[in-house]
Amino acid sequence: MVPGLLALLLAASTPLGRRAAEPGDGCGHLVAYQDSGTMTSKNYPGTYPNHTVCEKTITVPKGKRLILRLGDLDIESQTCASDYLLFTSSSDQYGPYCGSIAAPRELLLNTSEVTIHFESGSHTSGRGFLLTFASSDHPDLITCLERANHYLKTEYSKFCPAGCRDIAGDISGNEVDGYRDTSLLCKAAIHAGVIADELGGQVRVLLSKGISRYEGILANGVLSRDGSLSDKRFLFTSNDCSRSLSLEPDRQIRASSSWQWVNEVGEQVHWSAGQAWLQDQGPSWASGDSGNDHRQREWLEIDLGEKKKITGIRTTGSTQSNFNFYVKSFVMNFKNNNSKWRTYKGILNNEEKVFQGNSNFRDPVRNNFIPPIVARYVRVVPQTWHQRIALKVELFGCQITQARAQGNDSFVWRKTSQTTGISNEREDETITKRIPSEEMPTGVNLTTVAIPSVLFVVLLVAGMGIFAAFRMRKKKGNLYGSAEAQKTGWWKQIKYPFARHQSAEFTISYDNEKEMAQKLDLITSDMADLS
Ligand SMILES: *[C@@H]1O[C@H](CO)[C@@H](O)[C@H](O)[C@H]1NC(C)=O
Ligand SMILES: *[C@@H]1O[C@H](CO)[C@@H](O)[C@H](O)[C@H]1NC(C)=O
Ligand SMILES: *[C@@H]1O[C@H](CO)[C@@H](O)[C@H](O)[C@H]1NC(C)=O
Ligand SMILES: *[C@@H]1O[C@H](CO)[C@@H](O)[C@H](O)[C@H]1NC(C)=O
Repeated sequence: MVPGLLALLLAASTPLGRRAAEPGDGCGHLVAYQDSGTMTSKNYPGTYPNHTVCEKTITVPKGKRLILRLGDLDIESQTCASDYLLFTSSSDQYGPYCGSIAAPRELLLNTSEVTIHFESGSHTSGRGFLLTFASSDHPDLITCLERANHYLKTEYSKFCPAGCRDIAGDISGNEVDGYRDTSLLCKAAIHAGVIADELGGQVRVLLSKGISRYEGILANGVLSRDGSLSDKRFLFTSNDCSRSLSLEPDRQIRASSSWQWVNEVGEQVHWSAGQAWLQDQGPSWASGDSGNDHRQREWLEIDLGEKKKITGIRTTGSTQSNFNFYVKSFVMNFKNNNSKWRTYKGILNNEEKVFQGNSNFRDPVRNNFIPPIVARYVRVVPQTWHQRIALKVELFGCQITQARAQGNDSFVWRKTSQTTGISNEREDETITKRIPSEEMPTGVNLTTVAIPSVLFVVLLVAGMGIFAAFRMRKKKGNLYGSAEAQKTGWWKQIKYPFARHQSAEFTISYDNEKEMAQKLDLITSDMADLS
C-alpha cells in the first residue's frame, strides 16, 4: 500500500506540481473552497498565451453533483483543433468548445468530479475562459461577472462562488448607501462584508431606486469607485449585527504607547488613545515610537465592557493633512475577561489574518470579520505603517444574547453549550486533539497539470496506470488510514455547520440570534486556537 501511494505521489503530485510554475501553464486565477470556486485561463481577461495547456480536476463533496457555469468563453479558433475547452467526467465528455462551438452557460453533471482541459495553439486574440463551479446544493450559482442589472426582479437571492474578489471589473458604492446597479454582484458582496472571498456564499439582493452619486471606499481588499447617477442601485439584505458600537473612548480605549510633543507655541500635544474613536472629530491616536522596530508590537486596545460580537472595523490614519501617518496593515487580537490573547486567523490557513489597512491619512477603510470575533477586548496590532502608527477606529457588531441554545442538533454545538462562557482549558483541550493539517480545509481537490504536449501524453499514460492501481487498492480496503478518516471526520463536524451558516444564514440574516451567538462563539474560539 505504501509503495503504491508513494509511486502515485512521485508520479503525479511532485513533478506536476513543479510543472505548474513553468511557462506553458495556461491556468490563471483559481480559488476553490469546499463546494465552490472560480477558475480562469491565464491572463484573463487579457489574451491567453500561445501553446499552453491548463488541466485541473475539480471536485465537490462526494455524493453531490457538480454545477459548472461559464461566465465567459472567448477562443478565436473556429475548428477547436488546437484551441479549445473540454470537460471530462467519469461518464461524459462535454466539448471541445471554441469560437464557433458555443458552450452551454451551465452544465449540471451527474458526478462530483470533472476535469477541465484548456489548450491553446497559436492565436492572436481571445480572452480564454472564466468559469465558476459549485455543488448541486447551490443551484442558483452565478459567475463573478454577473452585474446586478442582469436581473429584473426587485428582490432575489444568488449563490456567489469562492474567489470573485480578484476578477477584473468595477463596483461603485458602499454597503450603507448601496451599489450602482452596474457593479459586479459577487465582488460587491465581498466589499459589503456579506461573504468572504475565500468561501463564497448566498447573497440576498434588494433592488431600489438609484441615487445621484455613489461613494467609493476600500473595504475587505476591494476598492469601490465613486459612481455617477444611475436609475437603479442594489443593497444586500443586511445582517442586523453591523451597528456601530458605542463606548466612552477615554475610559475604554488604551494603547501600548502614545505620542506627546511640544508645538511651536509651547503647548503639549498628546495623541492619546482616547482620541482613537472614529466617531469623534479631531486627531487620532499615534504611537510614541515612530521607529520600525517590529519586535516591539504596538497596539490599540478596546474594552467593550462585556463580551460582544464584532463583525467589522473601520479605520483611518491621522486625519490631519500635515501628519501623513497611517497604518497600512494590521492583525486583530482578542480576549475575554480572564483568558489569554488570541489572534484572529484566516479561514483557510491557520495563520494570523493580516488586514489591508489605510493607504492615506484620511480615507476610511473597512474590514469585516467572517466569522465574527466574539470577545470583550480587542486589539488592533499594526504590522506596517507610513511614517508613524496613527489610527482612528470604529467597530461594528452587536450584543450577544446570553440565553443558552436549546436542542442543538450536532456534536459540535452540544459541545458548545457545555463550554460556553468559561474554561478556555476545556476548549483548548478539545482543540488540541484536532489539529488540522495543511491540506485539510479544502474539500475540493485540485490537481494542476500543465505540460508541454509530449510530456503530457507520457505522464497521462503513466498516470492512468497508477491511478487504476490506486483505485483497485482503494476498493480492496483502507488506503486511507484511520488517522486520515478521523481528520476528515472532525473537519466535517466543524466545517459543515459553519459553512452552512456562513453561506446561507449568518452573513445575511440572523433568524435565531441566541442560538447563533453560541455557535459562533465556539467557531470563533476554534478558529483562533487551532495552531
Ligand atoms: C450521467 O449522465 C449520462 C448522460 O449525460 C448518462 O449516460 C449516465 O448514465 C449518467 N450516469 C449516472 C450515474 O446517472
Ligand atoms: C502567437 O504567435 C503568433 C505567431 O508567432 C503571434 O503573432 C501572436 O501574437 C502570438 N500570440 C500571443 C497571444 O502571444
Ligand atoms: C467580565 O467582567 C465584567 C466586569 O468586570 C462582568 O460584568 C462580566 O460578567 C464578566 N464576564 C464573564 C464572562 O465573566
Ligand atoms: C487529493 O489529491 C491528492 C493528490 O494530489 C491525493 O493524494 C488525495 O488523496 C486527494 N484527496 C482527496 C480527498 O481526494
